[in-house]
Amino acid sequence: MTNEAKTVAQSRTETVHLVRPMHLNGANRLFGGILMQWIDEVAGTVAKRHSGCNVTTASVDDLTFLHGAYQNDMIVIRGKITWVGTSSMEVCVDTYVENLSGQRDHINHAHFIMVALDGHDKPVRVPRLTLQTQDEQLAWEQAEHRRQLRKQKQR
Ligand SMILES: CC(C)(COP(=O)(O)OP(=O)(O)OC[C@H]1O[C@@H](n2cnc3c(N)ncnc32)[C@H](O)[C@@H]1OP(=O)(O)O)[C@@H](O)C(=O)NCCC(=O)NCCS
Repeated sequence: MTNEAKTVAQSRTETVHLVRPMHLNGANRLFGGILMQWIDEVAGTVAKRHSGCNVTTASVDDLTFLHGAYQNDMIVIRGKITWVGTSSMEVCVDTYVENLSGQRDHINHAHFIMVALDGHDKPVRVPRLTLQTQDEQLAWEQAEHRRQLRKQKQR
């Protein structure tokens, strides 16, 4: 890993999946567990790109299914880092269904806490995050707030 600070843009990640018959549940909608796997992979990729390390998922906050998805839907998953602690990182992941005109409907939102690990699977310090826009500053402050709430719940 490098200790140099990185920007949000440097680890931003977007993936695209087509909903196939094998991804459906008994009600012919996209199975939530499949979507959770896809968004966990995006969160992990963002965290790996930021930290330059192997990472693990420590917790997921506010995982919210806003709308369903169906066979042949194009699923776009976008992840970005919003906050870093010492070894932990918050990654925000948004999921959309994109139609043939390119319009995207928001179907899922989640905040992941990912922890960077060294070669002995121990938490390791991650690069600082350089905030370049007001939106990134706001996202950082909201992540700090979520961290405080999480700590209160853990007491
Ligand atoms: C996440 C894990 C590496 C933390 O290890 P630990 O020995 O508890 O390490 P620490 O207490 O030093 O915590 C390390 C960091 O993780 C954060 N953390 C640990 N547990 C957390 C949780 N449940 N939620 C959010 N953050 C958490 C700490 O706040 C700390 O952040 P910081 O370094 O930025 O201050 C460890 O609990 C683990 O391996 N969990 C299993 C993860 C896993 O297998 N995920 C895949 C599930 S299939």
